[in-house]
Amino acid sequence: MLSTMNTLRIGLAGTGTVGGGVWSHLQSNFDVLRCRTGVDIKIVRVATRDPKSIERLGIPTSIVSDDWHALVNDPEVAVIVELMGGTTHAYQLIKAALEAGKHVVTANKALLSKYGEELFALAAKKERQLLFEASVAGGIPIIKSLREGLIANRIVALYGIINGTCNYILSNMSEKGIDYAEALADAKAKGYAEADESLDVDGHDSAHKAAILAAIAYGFWVPEGQLATEGIRQVTKVDIQFARKLGYEIKLLAVIKSDDKSGVEVRVHPTLIPQKNVLASVSGVFNAVFVRGDVVGDTLFYGRGAGADATASAVLGDIAELALGLHAPRKCRAVGSDALYPKLKALEEIISRFYVRLNVADRPGVLAKIASVFASYEIGISSVIQPEVQAGESVPLIIMVHDASEKRFADALAEIARLDVVKDTPVSLRVEDFE
Ligand code: HSE
Repeated sequence: MLSTMNTLRIGLAGTGTVGGGVWSHLQSNFDVLRCRTGVDIKIVRVATRDPKSIERLGIPTSIVSDDWHALVNDPEVAVIVELMGGTTHAYQLIKAALEAGKHVVTANKALLSKYGEELFALAAKKERQLLFEASVAGGIPIIKSLREGLIANRIVALYGIINGTCNYILSNMSEKGIDYAEALADAKAKGYAEADESLDVDGHDSAHKAAILAAIAYGFWVPEGQLATEGIRQVTKVDIQFARKLGYEIKLLAVIKSDDKSGVEVRVHPTLIPQKNVLASVSGVFNAVFVRGDVVGDTLFYGRGAGADATASAVLGDIAELALGLHAPRKCRAVGSDALYPKLKALEEIISRFYVRLNVADRPGVLAKIASVFASYEIGISSVIQPEVQAGESVPLIIMVHDASEKRFADALAEIARLDVVKDTPVSLRVEDFE
């Protein structure tokens, strides 16, 4: 199948934003890729259910089918590029492609986080590559960096702003002082949010990407549903403003880290980040991944996490890797089958600092009552803000506490919520100091 010298034949499934970008950029940079790989990379078959995109992109109708089986059944096709999205047909296509002895390139983070273990095992068995650079952080080559450039490192910690839509919403709330609903409407109008916005704003998209990064860094797949995930719907502009007063920005952060003994933390949640940390200044739809390796120290990767061009760059990078391997094929390096560390740490054991916002009765002794509950759980307070407001029924009280386990903090907060001086459900957010 790979015997025709110097030509790599591709079957492209999906001609949406990313598929269209791959088609267009492969045409415009054909010569660059030929020069660098020594191979002519040609898309010889396309599967799509969107005839309008075929016309818009100028794809010859003779190579188009509305059925992905046409790609798998073509013996000339050596690589299938899956950009259909979803986890049903895309799963069937990738499985069938590997079974048929084809290499696969995909951008499908939801699919890999669900079926990665099975699909990488199949690729290894079939001695075919399953490449996925575009699945995390769009155009940022974080997968190749972790698997190749940082291969000699144990990963101490990895922190990622890996959902552009959430970062756009939170940065706009912070910079323009607008509320969540307005910022979300703007993100939708600009076409940033996924068709199902819940994937973005409830943290699932970040969780899918975090599962992939964790599988590379720590060698096992977090079982579906066990990755602690909180989205940004509950983040208010009031909390963003108080966080700024305290010297922090709020970002949706993926945290993946291990101390090598007690297990690996993998979680996604809105997080207070010190303004002096470079991640706090990543704004708009940009993504950033901070990696701390035991040999290299701290490294930072920054760029566009979505969009036709950035994502096409990542997909074409994977295709070029296959082209380079035509003359010296590499074995598939299965992802998530080389666990070096104990497995997932339970969320209750994770230690964090916390930000708390309470709405409390405006009368003497309230702060003392709340402080004594924290003290009884051995949780220290690091700062308190009580803004001057007109005397009234209730006032906001913002408290930052020192390190506590999730369990101890949750128990203390539940007790505080039951105090008669506390009016509404307390708001709490985790704080990350990157130490
Ligand atoms: N919806 C995703 C984001 C697209 O906003 O980052 C890229 O995965």
